[in-house]
Amino acid sequence: MLTSEPQLLRSTALLDRARAVIPGGVNSPVRAFASVGGTPRFMARGIGGRITDVDGFDYVDLVCSWGPMLLGHAHPTVEAAVVDAVRRGSSFGTPTENEVLLAEEITSRMSVDQVRLVSSGTEATMSAIRLARGFTGRDVVVKFAGCYHGHVDSLLVQAGSGLATLGIPGTPGVPDGSTADTIVVAYNDREAVSGVFAEHGDRIACVITEAAPGNMGVVPPAPGFNRFLAETCAAHGALLISDEVMTGFRASRRGQWGLDGAVEGWQPDLFTFGKVMGGGFPAAAFGGRADVMALLAPLGSVYQAGTLSGNPVAAAAGLTTLRLADDAVYERVGVVSDAIAAGAAEALGQAGVPHVVQRAGTMFSVFFTDHPVTDYAAAATQDTAAYAAFFHAMLDKGVYLPPSAFEAWFTSAAHTDADVDRVLAALPVAARAAAESRSAR
Ligand SMILES: Cc1ncc(COP(=O)(O)O)c(C=O)c1O
Repeated sequence: MLTSEPQLLRSTALLDRARAVIPGGVNSPVRAFASVGGTPRFMARGIGGRITDVDGFDYVDLVCSWGPMLLGHAHPTVEAAVVDAVRRGSSFGTPTENEVLLAEEITSRMSVDQVRLVSSGTEATMSAIRLARGFTGRDVVVKFAGCYHGHVDSLLVQAGSGLATLGIPGTPGVPDGSTADTIVVAYNDREAVSGVFAEHGDRIACVITEAAPGNMGVVPPAPGFNRFLAETCAAHGALLISDEVMTGFRASRRGQWGLDGAVEGWQPDLFTFGKVMGGGFPAAAFGGRADVMALLAPLGSVYQAGTLSGNPVAAAAGLTTLRLADDAVYERVGVVSDAIAAGAAEALGQAGVPHVVQRAGTMFSVFFTDHPVTDYAAAATQDTAAYAAFFHAMLDKGVYLPPSAFEAWFTSAAHTDADVDRVLAALPVAARAAAESRSAR
């Protein structure tokens, strides 16, 4: 693993200062490069598909803020909408027009009657769970190993994302009582789900699933799996929460649901959204059936609130982003993803590095393992050391990948052919670095 790189004077200095005042120097663990080693880059600016760090190095950005930047950085129309909103006042704690427009945009695209806006994906899933429990009068939540739904106490069991990256099974600070009503099942395992419902069916409030998991790398649902979950929940009076915080408005115009639900006719009871719908600002939402949403305060008795919920600046960014995200945008994001996914497979194949590339709509990831990944146990067989070598070689060539083998690679409609060419040129070099790291062991 690399330690600190000498030319990164400003990033290194900032990291030292950050470590003194921020735990680990970062405000979200995966940013710390803990599993790949080396110095996290402090970014100074981004435009289109590129980001530039404080030392002046420029990268093709394949993290895109972990998903939100579907249109690329500093999109001029989004920027103008944000500036206009800020000039009119950044927060009132009253209803505003932009919230209504954003809620209308979401309900016009997704199969939800109503949404409540919040500020983070974590808040969205936490609130959806509370609502499901309130609606059903039951306590038990079923989740899947390797799925990450934010840092909600009851869901921090065998979660993906940073916990998978750092090898943390659960976390201290979450009382046993908080997870006592959480049942964890292997992803894509119908039998296990049926078994859990056979045993606990009358106590299960909801199943929460990532519409297509992206937090253990991208693991598409087996054909019909989401529909099976919806039907199983319905048969037992439980609700299905489809977490589209990552996939929503990214995997396709209508998220993962637009890819498989629309075809198969399945219907979750509640959805959660975030990332793209905030256009790079803190906005998220949960929503669903009108009769379930009617239970929320002030109409109903399930309490949920937020000082900055539906913030007018965040709502302007999200609304403008969604309005701009038309079919042409998804086509371009798909073309960029196709080219990079194919290039990665070819380069790793030629270098003899075991790998599997998996897709969910325009989302994809590259697993450093030799068999298809259908669940977390399979994702965990990855050669993370080979990924670390690959990651650093890409970084040296000006490509910023997720600093973790357990994450999706994100593209944007702003990635140009020149950006893609830079990635394609870097991939064979990085694949050879991965091969060398394997033979050195
Ligand atoms: C599927 C999913 N749900 C929930 C969350 C939590 O969102 P946030 O980080 O905005 O709290 C994430 C974040 O990565 C996510 O990918």
